[in-house]
Amino acid sequence: MKNKWLKSILFIFVLILGIIFYMSNAFTLSSKEKKGSKVKKIKPTPTVPVKLVGIYVKNAKLKPDQLSVIPPKKTEVYKEKITPLTAVECGRCHSYHFNIIKKSGGKHQLECTFCHKEFHAYNPIKKNWKELMPKCKTCHLLFHGSKFSDCMKCHYNPHAPKLPMKITAEFAKICGDCHPKEMDETVKYHSMHTDIGCTYCHAKTHGCIPSCLDCHKPHIAGQTVEECFKCHAPHSPLNIPPFAKDTSNKVCSACHTTEFGKISTTKSKHGKVACVQCHPKHKYIPACTECHPQPHSEAMLKKFPDCLQCHMDVHNLPVKIGGK
Ligand code: HEC
Ligand code: HEC
Ligand code: HEC
Ligand code: HEC
Ligand code: HEC
Ligand code: HEC
Ligand code: HEC
Ligand code: HEC
Ligand code: HEC
Ligand code: HEC
Ligand code: HEC
Ligand code: HEC
Repeated sequence: MKNKWLKSILFIFVLILGIIFYMSNAFTLSSKEKKGSKVKKIKPTPTVPVKLVGIYVKNAKLKPDQLSVIPPKKTEVYKEKITPLTAVECGRCHSYHFNIIKKSGGKHQLECTFCHKEFHAYNPIKKNWKELMPKCKTCHLLFHGSKFSDCMKCHYNPHAPKLPMKITAEFAKICGDCHPKEMDETVKYHSMHTDIGCTYCHAKTHGCIPSCLDCHKPHIAGQTVEECFKCHAPHSPLNIPPFAKDTSNKVCSACHTTEFGKISTTKSKHGKVACVQCHPKHKYIPACTECHPQPHSEAMLKKFPDCLQCHMDVHNLPVKIGGK
């Protein structure tokens, strides 16, 4: 009786051992299979799930004792078509990119997938980042010709290509390629502005415009930047155009104190004549006869051709005391 009892305990013990042995063997087998060459071939492309199913179905043809798991019934989801994510859907995760396009994308406000045909396939082992990224040239060709082929050197943000470009040393060399008018002007009318170069003034970003008053004091107190442009073009500042008729004598006073002093205090009628009436262009000296055609007899003027021989100082004509 006691023997029978012992025998059945031994039997159960051996049975449990057997089951454990069988199970552990099965597990190692299945993990070997998982590491098997078939799985290794699978590339990490977006179509991974479909390929896996392909293998899975193939495996289903295997005999049951070659499988460690019981395959479920074939699912129907793979019959459906994938619709591409919209920009908003991508933006749920990539809010930075979505927002910069929204704010400053300009004409790049396109569906993300219009440019990103392939994505979420970056693999650091393959080092395929560059390959994955869209290329400007695909859509724009060499927009500015072959000289400017590295687009992102200037258009540094692909999602907002019109964002003000930073002025780099390389950029500075080629202003004249796109702005020949300004470049020619600085060369034709040489001044210190020619020597300092474009980016001394257009310094921060492409298209930024400085104020003259950033670097210069006005000639007279209260003179505005708008007034500067009446006499100075920024790219040819010494090529001063004819003065505006309403130019005040005070502007001239900044540099011509003597003449200004005389005109301001003279008793002659020339005190009522504005500097720019006689000097309509800078450095122009008028003839008296432009305004006084026939003041005296011809005989007298033949003898004394220079009016100032008698009239002395144009800015302070001698007049009779209490003169007309
Ligand atoms: C007009 C084409 C265009 C559109 C539209 C566009 N991208 Fe891009 N994107 C690019 C280019 C070009 C690059 C590669 C830049 C580079 O080479 O460094 C890029 C790079 C990226 C990168 C990786 C580099 C980084 O900045 O992190 C992400 C992520 C990205 N885009 C997400 C998006 C998302 C999300 C959208 C839509 C909301 C979008 N893109 C729309 C052209 C585009
Ligand atoms: C569920 C969140 C999520 C959505 C939706 C999503 N992405 Fe991503 N994306 C990520 C993550 C996470 C990364 C990797 C980390 C990173 O680079 O920021 C990534 C990386 C990227 C990259 C760079 C790396 C690569 O492998 O391409 C691009 C480009 C990109 N996504 C584009 C897109 C586009 C285009 C869409 C919409 C069609 C989109 N993503 C939708 C989460 C998302
Ligand atoms: C998949 C195509 C595609 C790619 C890639 C692409 N673009 Fe564009 N880009 C466009 C389209 C489309 C427009 C709008 C054209 C139009 O309406 O005239 C545009 C417009 C522009 C504009 C004018 C923007 C505006 O708001 O006026 C610039 C600048 C530009 N792209 C530069 C770039 C640069 C730089 C890259 C690379 C970083 C790039 N693009 C990549 C398709 C693309
Ligand atoms: C040296 C700097 C520089 C390089 C490099 C450069 N660009 Fe530009 N690009 C500019 C400037 C400056 C403008 C005009 C200013 C603006 O539009 O804000 C411009 C304008 C454009 C425009 C027209 C924008 C509009 O107003 O319609 C497109 C498109 C463009 N670039 C595409 C490209 C592409 C593609 C490349 C590379 C093949 C490239 N650029 C390389 C500086 C550059
Ligand atoms: C690839 C061509 C290109 C190059 C290179 C280029 N520009 Fe421009 N630039 C343009 C175009 C096109 C515009 C007109 C842009 C617009 O209307 O958005 C412009 C506009 C400007 C403006 C006027 C902005 C305004 O408000 O009227 C200034 C200033 C300027 N550029 C200076 C420079 C300087 C300085 C350089 C050299 C560092 C330079 N640019 C290089 C194409 C270029
Ligand atoms: C001394 C400073 C200075 C220098 C140097 C300079 N600029 Fe300018 N530039 C200006 C100012 C100021 C304006 C604004 C003119 C206006 O508002 O009418 C301007 C305007 C411009 C414009 C816009 C055109 C317009 O009529 O609005 C362009 C393009 C430009 N500059 C290009 C250049 C280039 C290219 C160079 C080098 C060859 C250069 N600049 C050198 C100060 C300068
Ligand atoms: C970023 C600084 C800067 C800006 C902005 C600037 N200038 Fe100048 N300018 C200079 C420098 C530097 C000189 C060289 C002489 C000096 O050191 O004063 C100069 C010289 C001049 C000269 C004498 C030129 C010569 O060859 O003798 C005139 C005239 C002049 N500037 C007018 C202007 C006017 C008008 C403006 C606005 C349209 C302007 N400048 C904007 C820096 C600037
Ligand atoms: C009514 C005309 C007129 C106006 C307005 C004017 N200028 Fe002048 N500026 C001149 C004349 C004339 C010269 C002398 C040019 C020469 O030496 O041949 C001159 C010379 C200069 C010079 C170089 C000599 C010096 O004094 O350093 C600078 C800089 C200058 N102007 C800046 C300005 C600025 C800035 C403004 C606006 C605030 C301005 N100008 C407004 C007529 C004008
Ligand atoms: C920023 C200083 C400056 C301002 C402002 C200025 N000038 Fe001059 N002007 C000069 C310089 C410098 C000369 C050259 C002097 C020389 O060659 O000896 C000159 C020369 C002249 C000459 C010719 C002198 C000669 O010997 O042939 C006349 C005329 C003249 N200026 C008139 C004016 C008038 C009118 C104004 C006001 C509308 C004016 N200037 C404003 C600096 C200035
Ligand atoms: C009625 C006409 C007239 C008026 C008004 C006038 N000028 Fe003159 N200016 C002349 C004539 C004519 C000369 C030549 C004098 C000579 O040949 O000695 C001259 C010469 C000059 C010269 C050269 C230096 C000199 O004394 O020979 C300067 C500078 C000058 N004027 C500045 C001014 C300024 C500044 C004003 C206003 C404050 C002014 N002028 C007003 C007619 C005028
Ligand atoms: C831009 C024109 C202009 C020029 C140039 C000019 N004047 Fe006059 N002149 C006048 C005007 C206007 C009067 C005032 C006439 C009146 O009220 O009857 C005047 C008055 C005079 C008078 C009378 C003075 C008085 O106070 O009664 C004399 C003398 C005179 N001019 C001499 C000259 C001489 C000499 C020159 C050359 C060196 C000259 N003018 C150049 C415009 C000019
Ligand atoms: C030989 C000396 C002499 C010469 C040369 C001379 N003038 Fe006179 N001018 C006079 C005298 C004297 C008066 C009368 C003074 C007075 O009435 O106060 C006068 C008067 C004038 C008057 C004022 C007339 C009026 O009705 O009040 C003008 C204008 C004038 N001269 C212009 C000129 C001009 C222009 C020239 C040169 C083409 C010139 N003068 C040459 C001596 C001269």
